[in-house]
Amino acid sequence: MAEAVVEVEGLWKAFGDVSAVEDLSFSIERGQVYGLLGPNGAGKTTTLRVLMGLERPTRGSTRLFGSTVTPSCNELFRVGAMVEQAAFVPHLSGMRNLRLWWEATGARMKDADLDGALAIAGLGDAVHRKVKTYSQGMKQRLGFARLLLGRPELLVLDEPTNGLDPGEIREIRELIGRLTSAGATVLLSSHHLNEVEQVCSHALVMNHGRLITSGTVSELIGTTKSIYIEVDPADRVRAHTLLSTHPHVADVQTQGDGLVMEMRDGQRSDVAALLVNAGLRLETIMPTQGLEDAFLDLLAAGDAADAGGNTVGASTTNRSEVVS
Ligand SMILES: Nc1ncnc2c1ncn2[C@@H]1O[C@H](COP(=O)(O)OP(=O)(O)OP(=O)(O)O)[C@@H](O)[C@H]1O
Ligand SMILES: [Mg+2]
Repeated sequence: MAEAVVEVEGLWKAFGDVSAVEDLSFSIERGQVYGLLGPNGAGKTTTLRVLMGLERPTRGSTRLFGSTVTPSCNELFRVGAMVEQAAFVPHLSGMRNLRLWWEATGARMKDADLDGALAIAGLGDAVHRKVKTYSQGMKQRLGFARLLLGRPELLVLDEPTNGLDPGEIREIRELIGRLTSAGATVLLSSHHLNEVEQVCSHALVMNHGRLITSGTVSELIGTTKSIYIEVDPADRVRAHTLLSTHPHVADVQTQGDGLVMEMRDGQRSDVAALLVNAGLRLETIMPTQGLEDAFLDLLAAGDAADAGGNTVGASTTNRSEVVS
């Protein structure tokens, strides 16, 4: 049976009158790369901080490797967390910073996985340069190296690509790829939706502290209603006719060599079955949207369901909040 590395059940976290997280539940199994997606103020950082024992939950439970999280629980030693900005001594080299930090924990350098950490962080010779000469992306990679010294089984990363340029974002994405192919479990939060789409196996979408949806990234993309289909050219007219008269289908348009249809309800698999059962040669069927569009749709749907509830409408994606 797969072991749950992270289990969050009915988590609530309030700061005075502000409800940062409301009734959030999710679990992460070993080897998953799990994305927490949501706009500013959604409650992502708060969730990660509670999970790391940095905040006490108002209600609900958080478990790591099967044990309840407390500020001093042993399971936290199995986690590498980047929830705060990593700070380094600027006039010392990256390597010296790594050693100082590791030894400050009372551990011996020979017990650290220095080679493994440096291989994944990919800093090369720059690790011997002073940190004040580093770009933002290099500092972030040094932060990763620091986390990896202790051979963590779970990595918790709050917006690991925040403030980086596109090249640096790609490097961090590759770094996370190296981590996960080495078997790590990763929980990360992000605004970069296409990053999540490319990096994560699973994702959870939250807004106003609440879960909107969760699942595999392909399931989340699959919740979109717009579908692109290609059939054998000889079957295209029949496919158009079949689809446009079907009760699940709201609209069908020709696009290039294919058809784009909007579903009213039902599953993509229903459409595939309909066409195949009618003897059509189906070549491609896929959602037209990526996670970014799916995410915006989900947030909009969540807000519509909230109508009359606490806040917001179209402003969800640009609410700015003060984050501690
Ligand atoms: N220490 C705190 N005291 C008071 N309110 C807080 C505190 N920490 C967070 N909040 C509030 O809780 C809500 C959720 O904040 P949180 O930082 O978890 O969101 P987030 O999803 O990480 O947002 P961002 O994408 O901007 O980082 C916000 O309304 C925020 O202002
Ligand atoms: Mg945050």
